[in-house]
Amino acid sequence: MSKDNEEMVVTPWEVRGKLDYDRLIEEFGTQRIDEKLLKRIYKITGEKHVMLERELFFSHRDLDWVLDEYEKGNKFVIYTGRGPSGNVHIGHLVPWIFTKWWQEKFDTRLYFQLTNDEKFWFEQDLSYDEVKKHTYENTLDVIATGVEPENTFIINDIEHIDLLYELAVQVAKKITFSTAKAVFGFENSMNIGGIFYPSMQAVPAFLHSWIYGEKTPCIIPCAIDQDPHWRVTRDVAEKLGYYKPASIQNKFLPGLQEGGKMSSSSPMSALYTTDTTKVARKKVMAAFTGGRETAEEQRKLGANPDICSVFMYYDMLFMPDDKELADIEQKCRSGEILCGECKQILAPRVIDFLEKHQEKREEAKERIHEFSASRLRDDIRR
Ligand code: TRP
Repeated sequence: MSKDNEEMVVTPWEVRGKLDYDRLIEEFGTQRIDEKLLKRIYKITGEKHVMLERELFFSHRDLDWVLDEYEKGNKFVIYTGRGPSGNVHIGHLVPWIFTKWWQEKFDTRLYFQLTNDEKFWFEQDLSYDEVKKHTYENTLDVIATGVEPENTFIINDIEHIDLLYELAVQVAKKITFSTAKAVFGFENSMNIGGIFYPSMQAVPAFLHSWIYGEKTPCIIPCAIDQDPHWRVTRDVAEKLGYYKPASIQNKFLPGLQEGGKMSSSSPMSALYTTDTTKVARKKVMAAFTGGRETAEEQRKLGANPDICSVFMYYDMLFMPDDKELADIEQKCRSGEILCGECKQILAPRVIDFLEKHQEKREEAKERIHEFSASRLRDDIRR
């Protein structure tokens, strides 16, 4: 588990240390989503979104430009993705839930990339069969978010390589090894698949434009650790005659244990979409909080929601009502509520969320083909 005093490291393949999002905006050179931009978004969407309101989505590249184009009648497509290295947890679902909302509000296409090639190359201990299994399982989770097949195309890198390769070779030719080393920190001991990989992640940003022969803006909702990919993708875009992809970036959902993000490498810290009610409840009840040593002390001095993972779950996903959130925060700080009681409020919400998701996940098993990017094969004009 990551420790708070550790140096912050944020790359597409590693996130650790105490996360300082202001510093990330500065170092990555992205823009903050400010009030003015929020107003512009809401003018179009006609409703607020809790993940924007609570600054879970906090940073962007070229979002104003995308909205300019949209208002001129030049629609964008959405691109996001997932590296199928294991089970999906709630932290992964967060940007997907937002993506679905964004897709609905702007009534546009979504290209969702499952990078089984990436995970096979980057995860030393992952066998090919395991990657295949995760790809299938993760596809179910994507569909379970409620996206519609008419405008959602799930790309499986290995299975759909024929759709991607013509663009990938063109991207690859424009990225030197020294750029890749500088941006991604690649080392000589890596396998050469991984070195090629960034060209694959760039492709869906151009795919729509290439298939339909029409330059189309693209926006990528994703966690901020993916930004190095977009820097490279944006660099090659114009050289290849496409628009630079825009992005809208989220923070990591914190784990249920102390410090760090929700991570697959520390199972008690992550709520998996396939967790049973019993396991989910157990994880919530064992969560790290900002409580005091004893009940007596807490009644007297109050607790600290600022470091509490239960409160962060309310804030980011499970308590969209501002009044209710303010109320529980006040009760926490004043010592009126103890951590055990507070967890009893969160647990049923988490369980309800998981049960609904699991139901949709089951239904998705019959529907995978409806979402497959293989449908695009007929549209390609070569
Ligand atoms: N590299 C990402 C991961 O490891 C997967 C991914 C591919 C992605 N394309 C993306 C994520 C676009 C966000 C947006 O999870």
